[in-house]
Amino acid sequence: MSTAKKDYKKITTKSLIDMKAHGEKISMLTAYDYTMAKIVDSAGIDVILVGDSASNVMAGHETTLPITLDQMIYHASSVVRGADRALVVVDLPFGSYQSDPKEALRSAIRIMKESGGHAVKLEGGKEIKESIKKILNAGIPVMGHLGLTPQSIYKFGTYTVRAKEEEEALKLIEDAKLLEKIGCFSLVLEKIPAKLAQQIAESISIPVIGIGAGSGVDGQVLVIHDMLGMNNEFSPRFLRRYMNLYEGMTSAISQYVDDVKSKDFPNEKEQY
Ligand code: KIV
Repeated sequence: MSTAKKDYKKITTKSLIDMKAHGEKISMLTAYDYTMAKIVDSAGIDVILVGDSASNVMAGHETTLPITLDQMIYHASSVVRGADRALVVVDLPFGSYQSDPKEALRSAIRIMKESGGHAVKLEGGKEIKESIKKILNAGIPVMGHLGLTPQSIYKFGTYTVRAKEEEEALKLIEDAKLLEKIGCFSLVLEKIPAKLAQQIAESISIPVIGIGAGSGVDGQVLVIHDMLGMNNEFSPRFLRRYMNLYEGMTSAISQYVDDVKSKDFPNEKEQY
């Protein structure tokens, strides 16, 4: 296995499978708007996820449940306009695919047609198998999502680590194999023990992208607001903060307020 990094001009679902085969880790971050997508894309990210975490970080909801399909399409179309190289994956929001496979397909088609995204992501395994198959049969690439699935938060009752017990771990392994078998191109594993995540990544051929799932998987994903430190109230163990934008932005904005109040801004050179 060669670990040499290939130069991909445009990332496709096939590039990700290729990266796994070559031992190159996959980088994925969320984005929800044009400007952020442009920055993330030009920094060389492989995959941009238009996550339903937009419900939390963009709209201020406590859970991901309230965001609508129309709102996801709005976010995704903004992101697509900012992304030249990255593969753009869009979450199907809660309530847009759970009732039946036809509804799931209609929602996925709307995302692909109206946003220009390249693939969709759905939370769940065996219970949504028929919906995933229906979407795949229409030629739409699907990324799976297992482990902690935030759309089921009221069933779990907590955001703590999933699949610590054998029964849940076995179901997770079965679901991962099922998603590979029916044709998903990739899989997100959220907040599960690192050993289990590595075991799954090693037992399936599609790339496994982890969040809070350790280093033994094929790639990593974080929510952009969290890794840039825009939110100082959320500090799970798996999060690495690369900046403290909350402090940086607050201090820049309070400086601006002071400058306006003190009439320091605008100065002679900053006017016509
Ligand atoms: O919505 C989201 O941001 C996600 C990631 C946490 C994987 O699904």
